[in-house]
Amino acid sequence: MADSYLLRVVEVVAETADACSLVFDVDDQFADRFTYRPGQFLTVRIPSDRTGSVARCYSLSSSPHTDDRLRVTVKRTADGYGSNWLCDEIRAGAELECLPPAGVFTPRSLDEDLLLFAAGSGITPVLSIVKSALAAGSGRVTLVYANRDERSVIFAQALTELAAEHPDRLQVVHWLESVQGLPTAEQLRAFAAGRETWDAFVCGPAPFMKLVVGALKELEFPRERRHQEKFVSLGGNPFGDEAGAAKAAEEVAAAESDDEPDRQEEAPAAPTGPAVSLEVELDGEKHAFDDWDPSVRMLQFLESKGVKAPYSCREGECSACAVRLLEGAVQMAHNDVLDEEDLEDGIRLACQSTPTSETVRATYS
Ligand SMILES: Cc1cc2nc3c(=O)[nH]c(=O)nc-3n(C[C@H](O)[C@H](O)[C@H](O)COP(=O)(O)OP(=O)(O)OC[C@H]3O[C@@H](n4cnc5c(N)ncnc54)[C@H](O)[C@@H]3O)c2cc1C
Ligand code: FES
Repeated sequence: MADSYLLRVVEVVAETADACSLVFDVDDQFADRFTYRPGQFLTVRIPSDRTGSVARCYSLSSSPHTDDRLRVTVKRTADGYGSNWLCDEIRAGAELECLPPAGVFTPRSLDEDLLLFAAGSGITPVLSIVKSALAAGSGRVTLVYANRDERSVIFAQALTELAAEHPDRLQVVHWLESVQGLPTAEQLRAFAAGRETWDAFVCGPAPFMKLVVGALKELEFPRERRHQEKFVSLGGNPFGDEAGAAKAAEEVAAAESDDEPDRQEEAPAAPTGPAVSLEVELDGEKHAFDDWDPSVRMLQFLESKGVKAPYSCREGECSACAVRLLEGAVQMAHNDVLDEEDLEDGIRLACQSTPTSETVRATYS
């Protein structure tokens, strides 16, 4: 089981008719485990009579630079279990079991110019990035924000206020399907044209993301400056409920059938060979072993040694287990989250990695 923590909900904010924010109080004892970067997410345990629990990820809409408290924003999914449970059942005073913040949908530097595309609940990590860039960075920020209609715009007021406070740095373009229809690739391309040197972040429903990424590709926007966050329900259950994990895996497979195979890798054959030396740094502590069976994934091996390594989905979908290689090489069975820039920086998913060199050194920081 992953290292989870109980967080107290101190406030529930109704954002729109079908979205709410949960504001958390983090106990001083483990506050250092809950520091985060803009764009990261929490994994929440949601109890289930049928399966014990399900795990769902929710991006932090708060900013580490402007907000004292962590806040996630949940939009109801039609017929969805977790999102409706959170919006219906959680009141101030409730406690939720959560994993620490994770994820790589986060700007390398807040001083870059940022081109942000969000649709619906995809605004959640994007708002965190906007607030952080304006408060702690120096670049320009353009946000294209698509919604069904005016009533479904989450954070409309916050964005209006930010744009008024930073007229020379923030431009918010609202796109309402009820007024303008669905945006076309050509219209989206027009927002990106001339901004090819900016860092692009895209989050929203799969068809929207596909359209935006297609437009960015047509403009030859380099891969390392196109970042995407896919909102899927996890296929694994880090809270240790196998029945829940199996059910969730079916749901994700159904929901993801039309996914862009952008970052997918051919699953490599399970490696064999002599034991490998592994040294990892986690929370300032070094762990060294010289008996890593190369057919065993790094996360699994570390767990077998009693190391409390972080993870969430265990399926290459969320990046909660990301490590940075300092020496050696690994191959990943599946990668649905890391982009070329991450890979060039040596970032790998421990839950998917088996070694291809005699020695591997990596860090979780
Ligand atoms: C990194 C990350 C960040 C995220 N951030 C946010 C966020 O900030 N805000 C937010 O609202 N969401 C976010 N999500 C999405 C969130 O984790 C959930 O996926 C979402 O809330 C839906 O979960 P659910 O339990 O309500 O729906 P689910 O129960 O998972 O259902 C999802 C869909 O599958 C269908 N379905 C359910 N059961 C079956 C079945 N047996 N067969 C076929 N179809 C089925 C449902 O009808 C529904 O359409 C994020 C996801 C990730 C991975
Ligand atoms: S735990 Fe989710 S990608 Fe490894």
